[in-house]
Amino acid sequence: FRIAVFASGSGSNFQAIVDAVQAGKLDVEVGLLVCDRPGAKVAERAAAAGVETFAFRPKEYASKEAYESEIVKRMQEQRIDLVVLAGYMRIISDTLLQPYEGRIVNIHPSLLPSFPGLDAIGQALAHGVKVTGVTVHFVDGGMDTGPIIAQRAVEVAEGDTADTLADKIHPVEHELYPSVIRAIREGRVALSGDGRRVGWR
Ligand code: GRF
Repeated sequence: FRIAVFASGSGSNFQAIVDAVQAGKLDVEVGLLVCDRPGAKVAERAAAAGVETFAFRPKEYASKEAYESEIVKRMQEQRIDLVVLAGYMRIISDTLLQPYEGRIVNIHPSLLPSFPGLDAIGQALAHGVKVTGVTVHFVDGGMDTGPIIAQRAVEVAEGDTADTLADKIHPVEHELYPSVIRAIREGRVALSGDGRRVGWR
């Protein structure tokens, strides 16, 4: 069971997945990192872990379809079973969605459907919610939409800033994402017939 991780930034979730694999807690192979910012820290992490990387600059392609086609080709070469978005800051279009339908997951730092899109942590603080959290969901063509697989709550304390709240949310992500990938790998997560809801067994 081979996964591709897509990330654009620091890659702490990529690292948590690699660490879980290396610790024998997650029985998958990380076959590919897809990174749309070639200098990002996540690319260093992949090099250190010996994970093949496809780093590209979207601007160097004629269209989204062009670079997504290249990504699909690389994923087919690597026989990827599951696509794991971990801080990949782009909407996925049909070029990628269709061949991997029902096999793409994303993690988002809020309790969706609250606070989709950019800066979910800042949005939660601005709204004054007392509880926020983390969501892992299957990906469809929308922005942080798609059937919800798992969620964890994180309390917002008086005086929390974007930094202190992020410091509470990230460790929750690092625990949740590997465990959801494990559940998918073990066949314990299933999409309903209409593709809109997730059941666990
Ligand atoms: C995480 O907060 C994730 O929920 C969001 O992007 C962030 C990525 O962080 N989608 P990192 O690069 O894994 O450290």
